[in-house]
Amino acid sequence: MFFGAVQLGIMAACVVLFVPMGMAGWHLSRNKVLFFSGALFITLAVCIHLIPYFPSFFPQPPPTVLFQQESCISFLNNVSFRSNLDGFSWNWDTSSGSLDCDFQKLGRGDVSDLLNGSWVVVAGDSQARLFMVALLDLVLGADEMEKIHDDLFKRHSDYHLVVEEIGLKLDFLWSPYVTNLTGVVTGFKRNGTYPDVLVMGSGLWHMLHFKNVSDYGVSLHLLKDSLLQSLPVSRKFDMELESARAAGSARAMHLFWLGMPTLINGLLNTEEKRVKMTREMCRAYNQELYKSKLLRRDGGSLLLLDVETLTRKCGVDCSLDGMHYGDVVYEASVHVMLNALLIESHQKL
Ligand SMILES: *[C@@H]1O[C@H](CO)[C@@H](O)[C@H](O)[C@H]1NC(C)=O
Ligand SMILES: *[C@@H]1O[C@H](CO)[C@@H](O)[C@H](O)[C@H]1NC(C)=O
Ligand SMILES: *[C@@H]1O[C@H](CO)[C@@H](O)[C@H](O)[C@H]1NC(C)=O
Ligand SMILES: *[C@@H]1O[C@H](CO)[C@@H](O)[C@H](O)[C@H]1NC(C)=O
Ligand SMILES: *[C@@H]1O[C@H](CO)[C@@H](O)[C@H](O)[C@H]1NC(C)=O
Repeated sequence: MFFGAVQLGIMAACVVLFVPMGMAGWHLSRNKVLFFSGALFITLAVCIHLIPYFPSFFPQPPPTVLFQQESCISFLNNVSFRSNLDGFSWNWDTSSGSLDCDFQKLGRGDVSDLLNGSWVVVAGDSQARLFMVALLDLVLGADEMEKIHDDLFKRHSDYHLVVEEIGLKLDFLWSPYVTNLTGVVTGFKRNGTYPDVLVMGSGLWHMLHFKNVSDYGVSLHLLKDSLLQSLPVSRKFDMELESARAAGSARAMHLFWLGMPTLINGLLNTEEKRVKMTREMCRAYNQELYKSKLLRRDGGSLLLLDVETLTRKCGVDCSLDGMHYGDVVYEASVHVMLNALLIESHQKL
């Protein structure tokens, strides 16, 4: 989409070299070839020097907009909760530099517009399921929600739904371990089909059943490798993606990591959990996540939905059992994701 100086230089060199050579092939005399060569060289040189005065001919990414986008994305997780009579409410912090970002809580119509014709996959443990529920709450009406409630909460199972009116396909894939997430990613590769939005997250099950930090780290690295190999998109190839998108041959894929919640040890409902799922263990597991460089802020391709910060801010009263929290937390994280999608797809509502 954007013409870099390097590509321009290479193109100019090719023109100067090959156009006269081509003409020589057309049996022009050597003098004429030299003449054309010289004329071309001078024309190109003049053009190159004129470019700065006519920037509109050579579109550049508006740097302030891109900068603002990135900085807005970094403010997305800055959310606060307030308790009131009917529970909790949430909103973005306004004290921060996010005032220009125009974050908004989207209504059902806005979400339908944004996700129209999309395929959204959420893969992970029960946190991911609650995230999916919050997303469905935004997409479906209360009566429809009622109807699917039992299927959606079937323990340890997948859930699939197509919202016909807006051609939205939603999949929840039960994936308690990172190895399961890797399986999901390689599955896309095998099938040759990729969702538009992929939200993944896992860690608590591993902590409880393996309690092996380095093994968690290893599995995160394997996930990262499979992402790099399988998916048509990674941050590294953004430029290629831009051109592919311009050519209409590839869709952008948006990747999110659903972070682990803040654990409240005293509220955990079994002795085993209280022993294994400590604050220190949580910190160590999160360190592995950062070390894996899966997250965008560490150079990876997944944008963090910072459930740890959100749950910590919502606090003890907001938690049900020390690891699952009230709907308001998952609702907020869904809106964080939707606003990231809005920013990244350059849409305004
Ligand atoms: C926004 O959140 C980030 C990360 O949690 C934090 O470092 C920063 O201080 C927050 N900024 C404001 C203004 O609250
Ligand atoms: C969804 O998109 C299709 C085609 O882009 C359009 O015809 C339809 O009206 C849209 N539906 C909604 C609910 O926005
Ligand atoms: C997830 O991975 C675990 C351990 O690798 C495996 O035992 C389990 O069958 C997998 N579950 C699913 C749903 O793929
Ligand atoms: C791949 O395709 C099969 C068969 O259509 C389907 O059952 C499976 O869920 C797909 N996997 C993924 C990750 O899309
Ligand atoms: C932890 O995981 C690592 C890497 O998978 C493995 O080499 C090690 O033996 C495991 N440690 C324990 C105590 O199971």
